[in-house]
Amino acid sequence: MRRTHFPKAFTPDLGWADVTPKPLFMNRRALMAGGAAALAAGALPRAALAAWEDDWTGGEEIAASRFSTDEEPNSLDEITNYNNFFEFGTGKEDPARNADALTTEPWEITVDGLVENPGTYDLAELVGGLPLEERIYRLRCVEAWSMVIPWVGFELRTLLDRIGVRPEARFVGFETLVRPEEMPGQRRGILEWPYRDGLRLDEARNPLTIMATGLYREPLPNVNGAPIRLVVPWKYGFKSIKSIVRITLTEEQPVCTWNQQNPREYGFYSNVNPNVDHPRWSQATERRIGGGLFNSRQPTQMFNGYEEYVADLYAGMDLSEHF
Ligand code: MTE
Repeated sequence: MRRTHFPKAFTPDLGWADVTPKPLFMNRRALMAGGAAALAAGALPRAALAAWEDDWTGGEEIAASRFSTDEEPNSLDEITNYNNFFEFGTGKEDPARNADALTTEPWEITVDGLVENPGTYDLAELVGGLPLEERIYRLRCVEAWSMVIPWVGFELRTLLDRIGVRPEARFVGFETLVRPEEMPGQRRGILEWPYRDGLRLDEARNPLTIMATGLYREPLPNVNGAPIRLVVPWKYGFKSIKSIVRITLTEEQPVCTWNQQNPREYGFYSNVNPNVDHPRWSQATERRIGGGLFNSRQPTQMFNGYEEYVADLYAGMDLSEHF
């Protein structure tokens, strides 16, 4: 389902989120805040919605960002019904079917390794007050499909500063929750659980790298990695690990699930690169989900179009070797 396209000329100062009706997530908190009748009517009372937003953002403003693309975002329907989240199954519709069962409150994150402030923190305690921005980013999956997603989140570097990275640290690793009772994919040996991924510290500190806690200016849906996930827009989507419960600073390169599974097909870096094909398919083009009558393919851009911000990170590296 596509939204009406608003010609730019009529909306000179508005981002997409300003012209998009607020999507409603039929979750427990919304029910408590607005009542079943309001949901049935298709809208929450303004005050209840404001209270709910305050609860999620800590009353913070969500700022727009110069890093956002002006490409048209995919609809919420597309973003929440075509997912990779193997903890909930291998099919693109499995997360939509299964992920609502995930309990995301309370949520704790363990911070360990080479940090000044190690510990296990409640999510709000760990990230509360970090400046939230809307970042409308392209997402390019290694499987050669893509979307445009209006995330809300904060720059990872602001969290790294809060936890205090020790000077010896060179990498940051992340882990997803292991809870087979709620994650049917984890009852099967699809991957080696927990799902893990990581970045070089300078990649993690790049202003494009965010931790997302929202989407379309509402709390992150479970299918997209609630309550908090990584988003690294110049890398293939599998680097953007969902539902994070551990952040570890290390001197050594952290284990990354797909790289460990098949290092010949999935490199540690996994930067989007149309010139380096996957051993089993071309990466030169991509299929934009919901895009065009014939689902026609479009060229894939170097670093997914974020070259000007990130090319320096890889100066002097042979990108076909360090893929
Ligand atoms: N994180 C976890 N924990 N498990 C996963 O299976 N899939 C990855 C990534 N993060 C995955 C994950 C892949 S392959 C992609 S393309 C993106 O999430 C998809 O994000 P989206 O479903 O929010 O679009």
